[in-house]
Amino acid sequence: MFDQLKALPADPLLGLIGAFREDSNPDKVDLGVGVYKDENGHTAIMTAIQKAAVRHMETENSKTYIGPAGVVGFVDGIKQLVLGSDSSALTDSRVTGLQTPGGCGALRVGSEFLGRMKEDLTVWVSDPTWANHIPLISAAGLKIKTYPYFDSATSAVNFDAMDAKLAELGPNDIVLLHGCCHNPTGADLSFEHWQRVAERANKQGFIPFVDIAYQGLGDGIIEDVQGVRHLSSQVEEMLIATSCSKNFGLYRERTGTLLVQTENATQAKAMETQIQDVARANYSMSPAYGGFLVDIVLHDTALRAEWENELNSMAVRVKSLRSGLLKKIQQKGIDKDFSFITQQKGMFTYLGITKEQVQRLRNEYSIYMADSSRINVAGLNTHCLDYVADALKAVV
Ligand code: LMR
Repeated sequence: MFDQLKALPADPLLGLIGAFREDSNPDKVDLGVGVYKDENGHTAIMTAIQKAAVRHMETENSKTYIGPAGVVGFVDGIKQLVLGSDSSALTDSRVTGLQTPGGCGALRVGSEFLGRMKEDLTVWVSDPTWANHIPLISAAGLKIKTYPYFDSATSAVNFDAMDAKLAELGPNDIVLLHGCCHNPTGADLSFEHWQRVAERANKQGFIPFVDIAYQGLGDGIIEDVQGVRHLSSQVEEMLIATSCSKNFGLYRERTGTLLVQTENATQAKAMETQIQDVARANYSMSPAYGGFLVDIVLHDTALRAEWENELNSMAVRVKSLRSGLLKKIQQKGIDKDFSFITQQKGMFTYLGITKEQVQRLRNEYSIYMADSSRINVAGLNTHCLDYVADALKAVV
């Protein structure tokens, strides 16, 4: 049965991890996978998470199952973190959720649930979108199409084109939106854009599905969710996939949630059983560990303040790397306008260079980035800015 089996090409993002590791060039720079790194290229465990881990180890006295929803305090904490404690959807008990194996698990459970609801649904994703959205959502059996989003001429969102497409959609459509820090482009919707998306959703009847994996790494923990909170306040139904990989640094612990907002509390109760049933059929229950740690951090005043401070300093550092890179590029006199680097948000920027130029950066300079020319800004450090800017000048 397996004699005809062909090896698949490496994952466009995860494949970069191995390629970088094997490169022996001491000057190599990893701008590939979206992982936050410090000035020494290290992805440290956040201090609040470290302290929570110690506390958890001292208090956990069983490894029995915790139940289909996962760590309930964690899910509640994430609901409040994303939607705000004054959210009317939360106070009306219209939002249910469960812990998932990372944001991917949330997207997958959400997509499979949607597929169970209706046969002919189409999920619309931004053009471009995160490399794993399309395989993940298609694997759940849903049709997938793209809406116009990024304008490479301006390196910003072409909202008119996006809005024109949304105006064609209807109740058989799901619109996947990046909650903040758009991956891969770093070009975010403005608050006014979110208002218009909410109006469109109500007028056309499509359901928003928000993927939010970078809360706190753009303009701030609250600032980054203004659009999502507005949307939640305006529409009856929506789905939200959250991830704690980046903002709690829990990457390998695969910690996320799927939140679903419904029209009323009775529906939310029914919804809870539905999404738990989808999870059960896939992997039964999510690993609990990361959820325990986030639950501790979010509900302890001192640890929460420590986490907020550290996350904020990470975001500030990414911003300073953006301006540092732009400054170097301008100093080198590169004949291309890269000023968008400081206008975009979060960990990613689309350099807007060709695939051949990306290959040259990799082959000749050991600078690794996605083929799309997406760079993980958080992979830069003050020591390599000159090297990266020189290499860019050589290939552009
Ligand atoms: C990325 O976009 O690089 C990260 O979200 C890691 C991943 O799983 O692709």
